[in-house]
Amino acid sequence: MMKDSTAVGKRRREGASKMNWIVTAVAVCVFVPSAHCQSNSVAWCFNEPGCNQTMWPIFAAKYCNGSRQSPINIVSASAQVNSNLTAFTFLNYNSKSTMKTIKNTGDTVKVDFASGVRISGGDLSEDYDSLQFHLHWGNGTSVPGSEHTVDGKRYPMELHIVNSKASYNRNTTLAVEDSTGLAALGFLIEEMSGNATGQPASWRTLSSYLTNISNRGDIVTMVPGISLDDLLTGVDRTKYYRYLGSLTTPLCHEAVVWTVFKETIKVSKDVIDLFSKTVHFSNSTSPFMINVYRDIQPAQRVTTQAASSTSKACYSLALMALSLVLGSS
Ligand SMILES: *[C@@H]1O[C@H](CO)[C@@H](O)[C@H](O)[C@H]1NC(C)=O
Ligand SMILES: *[C@@H]1O[C@H](CO)[C@@H](O)[C@H](O)[C@H]1NC(C)=O
Ligand SMILES: *[C@@H]1O[C@H](CO)[C@@H](O)[C@H](O)[C@H]1NC(C)=O
Ligand SMILES: *[C@@H]1O[C@H](CO)[C@@H](O)[C@H](O)[C@H]1NC(C)=O
Ligand SMILES: *[C@@H]1O[C@H](CO)[C@@H](O)[C@H](O)[C@H]1NC(C)=O
Ligand SMILES: *[C@@H]1O[C@H](CO)[C@@H](O)[C@H](O)[C@H]1NC(C)=O
Ligand SMILES: *[C@@H]1O[C@H](CO)[C@@H](O)[C@H](O)[C@H]1NC(C)=O
Ligand SMILES: *[C@@H]1O[C@H](CO)[C@@H](O)[C@H](O)[C@H]1NC(C)=O
Ligand SMILES: [Zn+2]
Repeated sequence: MMKDSTAVGKRRREGASKMNWIVTAVAVCVFVPSAHCQSNSVAWCFNEPGCNQTMWPIFAAKYCNGSRQSPINIVSASAQVNSNLTAFTFLNYNSKSTMKTIKNTGDTVKVDFASGVRISGGDLSEDYDSLQFHLHWGNGTSVPGSEHTVDGKRYPMELHIVNSKASYNRNTTLAVEDSTGLAALGFLIEEMSGNATGQPASWRTLSSYLTNISNRGDIVTMVPGISLDDLLTGVDRTKYYRYLGSLTTPLCHEAVVWTVFKETIKVSKDVIDLFSKTVHFSNSTSPFMINVYRDIQPAQRVTTQAASSTSKACYSLALMALSLVLGSS
């Protein structure tokens, strides 16, 4: 143990920008949070030996070494059909003034929402308040960094909207103690085809804030202008995978109902690349924030909607053709 504290002391003297691994007496994260809060008492990281993810199951063993950990690789052919997985209702996702602040947390870029943003449906047991979204990425479009993979494919980025059971009144300390206290919506982000730049406009606007939050702890107020619907453009939100998992960062609480949408958000290469060359883990003398995602964890049972809509569409086209033939005879 003395050995450990010596190692920690050395690391700190070396000027590590964060309190690597040290357990502090005071809660670092008041509202525990997200799939990304520097939860409670453990300082963790993605990029330095001693606090990176190989250490999480050791210093945060209670949950990070658990048996329903996220993210996972989703095997599409193994997803079981569950017809209870109906559409969601998204409250205030069309409002252009719900995004309040954008922050460099040192581990991600996070946008906090005003109150009144909510989801329901989707086989969730009750309404959930949408609290924030944050992103995961690798190194631009060349090194993909989504957390979930589908049939082994990793995408450039992943957006997570974190929601907490409405009955907990946004108290995430309570929510993480409930096995379904949080609902996370995962959106895979893919490079837009063609040579477009600065697209979609909503993502260009979002990325325009990055230069103002280049250092850890930087936070700026967002001006009204883009909605969550704008950012989630092009995704059919009735098609998704569902499984029970965890927060993907310490303390890795196993409290998350995961929804990973099948369709991707298409973002132009230049905008994706901005994330890995604008914000830093600490300050301008520290590395750019890259590879901010957790590795794949053991598989879980995954469910999805019944019929694929393409077979349904083919079926109704066939019926239409048939009725045209019959009608004309
Ligand atoms: C940047 O962070 C390093 C490591 O935490 C620190 O030593 C240095 O003083 C910081 N530089 C500035 C300009 O804040
Ligand atoms: C993560 O930490 C482990 C053990 O401390 C170390 O062996 C490994 O090189 C580190 N990886 C990165 C990417 O920092
Ligand atoms: C993690 O759990 C496994 C099996 O449950 C156990 O063998 C292993 O020792 C645990 N690791 C840590 C660091 O607690
Ligand atoms: C669908 O919901 C019903 C009613 O809550 C439940 O009895 C049934 O087990 C659910 N089906 C699946 C596949 O989860
Ligand atoms: C990330 O990508 C940039 C641009 O392609 C490259 O210069 C840099 O070396 C990469 N960083 C790492 C750590 O691989
Ligand atoms: C959340 O609930 C816990 C337990 O009831 C309480 O101790 C804590 O103060 C609450 N946190 C907030 C931010 O209200
Ligand atoms: C993209 O740009 C290249 C080089 O300018 C051009 O050859 C190609 O046709 C463009 N592709 C599309 C889809 O516009
Ligand atoms: C970034 O900060 C500059 C200088 O403070 C300010 O003029 C600009 O409006 C800010 N940009 C955004 C997108 O907030
Ligand atoms: Zn996340």
